[in-house]
Formats: sequence, C-alpha cells, structure tokens
Amino acid sequence: MSKFWNEKIETMPVKDLQTLQMKKLKAQVVHVFENNPIYRSKFKNAGITPDDITTLADIGKIPFSVKDELRTQYPIGLQCVPQEQVVRYHMSSGTTGKPICCGYTREDLETWSDMMARAFCATGGGQQDIFQNAYGYGLFTGGLGFHYGAEKVGMSVIPTAAGNTSRQIMIMKDMKTTILGCTPSYAQLLGETLSREGCDMEHELFLRIGLFGAEPWTEELRDRVDKTLGLSAHGGGAFDHYGLTEMCGPGVATECQNRCGLHIWADHFLVEIIDPDSGESVHPGEKGELVITTLSKQCNPFLRYRTRDITILHEELCACGRTHPRIEKIMGRSDDMLIIRGVNVFPSQIEYVLLQHMELAEPFQIIINKSGPLDRLLLKVEQRDITSPLSRNDLQEILEVELKDSLQISIQVVVEAPNTLPRFEGKARRIIDNRS
Ligand code: DLL
Repeated sequence: MSKFWNEKIETMPVKDLQTLQMKKLKAQVVHVFENNPIYRSKFKNAGITPDDITTLADIGKIPFSVKDELRTQYPIGLQCVPQEQVVRYHMSSGTTGKPICCGYTREDLETWSDMMARAFCATGGGQQDIFQNAYGYGLFTGGLGFHYGAEKVGMSVIPTAAGNTSRQIMIMKDMKTTILGCTPSYAQLLGETLSREGCDMEHELFLRIGLFGAEPWTEELRDRVDKTLGLSAHGGGAFDHYGLTEMCGPGVATECQNRCGLHIWADHFLVEIIDPDSGESVHPGEKGELVITTLSKQCNPFLRYRTRDITILHEELCACGRTHPRIEKIMGRSDDMLIIRGVNVFPSQIEYVLLQHMELAEPFQIIINKSGPLDRLLLKVEQRDITSPLSRNDLQEILEVELKDSLQISIQVVVEAPNTLPRFEGKARRIIDNRS
C-alpha cells in the first residue's frame, strides 16, 4: 500500500510547487474579483487590481480577511459562485449569535476529500482499514470531512459520530476497527473507559491509527491515548490533524509518520506567519499567527485569512519525501476563542445571550474545569435585583436552554445574588481556565 495518495503532487519539487501556487493564486484572485462585489470593493479600497499580483510576494498587497467579515456577510455574502453550483453548506461558531457559513461546489468537495485521502495515507492508512468516525456529523465539518476522505481511499467507514461511549467500544471491538477519528479529549475518554473496564488493548482491540484534531492537545495526551488505545502496540500511533471550516474543515494539515509537524497542502493553501499585533511577517522559524490564502476554492475562497492560530512554519524538507511545508502543533490563539470539547466558543456569543435578559446585571464569569478528560463550562451570572419576577432558579433554567441552543454545548449556569461577582477596574477577567 502506498504511503502517498497523490505522490506526484505530494513530492513535487518546491520550485514547481511555487510555480503552481503562483498560477493558482492568480486564478483565485481573478475569481473573487470577478464574482463577488465585497472582494471588488476590498481591492478598490486597497488600490489594487488582480493585475498587481504577479509574484507570490505580491500577496502582501492584498488586505487580510477576518472571521468578523463572515459574520457581517452572513450567510452567503462572500459566496463567489451562483447558487446552482453550491452542493453543501457547513457552519461553525461566529463571535456572536450568528454562525459563520461556508459553501462548497462539487469540485470543492472533491478537493477536500482528496486532501483527507492524503492525510489518511500519510499516517499509514489504506484500503484495508476499518475507520470508525467518531467526529460529529452535521454542521460541524469533522464528520463528513473524514467520512468522504476515508471512502475515497476505499476504507470501510463506520459513521458512529461522537458520543455513546459504550456503543463506540462495542463496535470498535466487534468490527475490529483499525483507525479511529475523534477529538483528542474524546480519545482520552474512550481510552480511560477501556482501561477502567480492564480491556486488554493488545488482544481485544485492533486500533493502530488515531487521527485526532479540532482542538489543542499536548504531547503528554498523545502518549496517554496512544497507550490506552493500544495504537503503537499495533504498529501505528496517534496523529495530529488540523483544519478549520473557513478553509474546508479538517484536511488542511496533517502529520505524516515522522510526526515532526503537520504538512499543510501547498497546492491548495498559501501560508504566511505574521505577528498578530503588527500584522507584519515574522522571521522564518519564528512563532506567529497562521494566515492562509486558499488557492483552489470555488464557493468560498479566502485571501490572507487570519486563522488566529499560533504556530511556527518549517519549510525544510521532511524525511517522508513530502515537499509541502509543515506547521508545528497549534500553540494557542491570538483571540479569545475557547475550544470546549471540540466546539468553538466565543465569550461574546455568551454575552450576546445574556444581554437579552434585563433581569441580569452585566458581570459574568466563565469557568472552565476538567471533569475526567472532558472540559466543562460553568457560567456565573448575576441577578440585577431581587425584585425580578423571575427567580434565580427560573433564570438558570432559561439560560441553560438558550445557551445550549445558541452554542451547541451544555453549560452549567449559576445565577448569583446581586452585587456578588467581582468588578474590575482594568481589563475584566471574565475567563478562568482551570485546564492544565
Ligand atoms: O475544528 C475542523 C476540524 C475537524 C479539524 C476535525 C480537525 C479535525 P472549526 O470548528 O472551524 O473546524 O474549528 C477550527 O479549531 O482555528 C483551531 O483553533 C482549532 N483546531 C482545529 N484543529 C486543531 C488542532 C475544525 N489539531 C479551529 N490543534 C482552528 C489545535 C485545532 N487546534
């Protein structure tokens, strides 16, 4: 079985890759300019036209794009193809009540599955594998992204989706699953449950590869899930996998078997690393914010998209033979987005829900705790005054339902008595993150 899905592209000499990038950058710029008035006016405001982009370095002339533009253009203001060409939409959290929405043409889906197929092969997966897909299916890109990539490789896909741990374990044993896809925290929960049940990983399980992503995780967690799921024991390991809805979803960058950074597919993405404060490029090898320009997208292309993810870029060649650059494990974010059990949560989304209630005073506190391997979010809010017609219990119940509806995760709410939460003279410290 080949360790490459598309050897020609994956090992293309860097010079040829750059020539391809230039050709595709030019086409992508013309595409957005000709097909979307928002992009046209951005170019006009920056005093440029597509003709000004003649080298890869000219990318610096193009203004950045940010998540907030997706919010203001919600749902489809940034779409660059006519409706009849769109075959799917996915959504992810925005910074307030509305999500961000990204569409796909048939070709976009094809490109996405191809990148996912490369990721499976890079980690040692192939047609003979049985892939249990415990990423969430639905608006989240994880489930369907991995699903189509695995089918493209020809694996047998079991679409368990996230949750229902005892059923996951039963299926994993009965079906002799060899590859597992899920968030690292869910992998940890599965591993801990298996250990507690006294499972003999080496003989009762057949798992060799874990493709874990959608949230930050550490090398310590990698070691732990590797052991509790018996991955190395079966000749494989736990691999980091990175992506974001705006670029396609999962599939943007993946570790190969050398596990020395995540290869980011340079025929589809042009990468820059900037200082998040100044917006200037950092020196090679320095830490900064990852900025991505799509090179192949039809429906929702992005030019110089600020991911807010902090990493380091490595351009030296990898021993695996892939010539595509690598990013280091994501080290954090340059904004306040929290990732709770793989779900993106902005404090501003929570504030938006709270602001709809006159019965509440302004202060609130978000406390994140670990309960076993899973993150739990506790929200403390404050009643404005005790004469409110709604009791603290009523408010708590209403808020828990509204927050679940709006954020798609369960949040425990505690409504405190008036004037009990801390007030701040400087920057408010609203988030207390007790994870690690
Ligand atoms: O999380 C796509 C995905 C699905 C990636 C499954 C990997 C596996 P969003 O919901 O739009 O998309 O969230 C994107 O999640 O900007 C990062 O902050 C974070 N993130 C994703 N992968 C990783 C990772 C999916 N491997 C946001 N390590 C990104 C750290 C990650 N953070």
